[in-house]
Amino acid sequence: MIVNGRSLRPLVSAPDMMSIDIIDQRLLPHRLQLARLATAAEVFTAIRDMWLRGAPLIGAAAAFGVALAMREDSRDAALDRAVATLAEARPTAVNLAWALRRMHDRLEGLAPGLRASAAWREAEALAEEDVAINAAIGGHGLAIFRELLARKPAGQPLKVLTHCNAGWLATVDWGTATAPIYQAHAAGLPVEVWVDETRPRNQGASLTAWELAQAGVPHRVIADNAGGHLMQHGEVDVVIVGCDRVTARGDVCNKIGTYLKALAAHDNGVPFYVAMPTPTLDRSLHDGLREIPIEERSAREVTHIAGLSAQGDVVEVRLTPEASGAANPAFDVTPARLVTALITEHGVVPATAEGIARLPQATAP
Ligand code: MRU
Repeated sequence: MIVNGRSLRPLVSAPDMMSIDIIDQRLLPHRLQLARLATAAEVFTAIRDMWLRGAPLIGAAAAFGVALAMREDSRDAALDRAVATLAEARPTAVNLAWALRRMHDRLEGLAPGLRASAAWREAEALAEEDVAINAAIGGHGLAIFRELLARKPAGQPLKVLTHCNAGWLATVDWGTATAPIYQAHAAGLPVEVWVDETRPRNQGASLTAWELAQAGVPHRVIADNAGGHLMQHGEVDVVIVGCDRVTARGDVCNKIGTYLKALAAHDNGVPFYVAMPTPTLDRSLHDGLREIPIEERSAREVTHIAGLSAQGDVVEVRLTPEASGAANPAFDVTPARLVTALITEHGVVPATAEGIARLPQATAP
């Protein structure tokens, strides 16, 4: 995407195959700063500590992590170790395991001497496929937006609500849930976006809002609790969110708070779409509520908050009493029955076992 007139991606691989540059998302929206990762260990830390985040981007970064590991040691044991270690970085988004399996499958049959350059090429291919997948999701989502707009009085904008950051920062480009928004805006369609702040890490307030501002898309940040009220008052035409893992029967795991938005949308007859690249599909699981591992993150993300001081420094302050504990489940599961449809790169399918069975397998090596 374009930032300050310059084309930018959240992950760029170096031509010498020695490192990747990422946007350090911990500093946004206040500072746009790149970080260079030159080892698999650095990629692991960047994923675990959320310098980069978002299911598709985690997968792409992990693929480059394997490629960097192969530069250090490309023997079988090192390949197995790199894949096993990177898989531990975060538990919920299945794109991580998917990308690592793809890298392992691609490399295991090669002689160790050939692995480093093959791994780099495979990681680059995976990253470019992510861009194409998201662009296709954007096209299918745009068709839905056009239909919804056609039902509104002429001249009125389509009011879209989104949760967390499923934007280009969470992918290699375009974003998933934001791809239709960017394509609609580029096509001159009137869209206005309600951006859930997405406590506790505020991916909506810090990242989605920043992205939309850069692109000039009209938007307003809302407290997470405002969505239901806005839906009751006809202020939301459609909800679109991303996903971290979708089961074979269509249960959707996404950022904590997504489920409450789906409930409110259902109660108010607002369509609730999930933008789902097929690498986010986990056909091995069925009952999302019981089977998907939910990441529990540090209580400090709830008890403290970071922001820009009057002096222009990014500072962290405590929100809660010293004596209060906190819990921080990072994802929740929206049952398939609350999902209007899944928008995939192959088209729009119902969130049902039958709909999902029609989808081709995500690209294998
Ligand atoms: O914890 P995060 O910031 O990695 O969570 C990200 C989300 O939940 C996104 O909405 C999801 O990964 C979809 S990204 C296209």
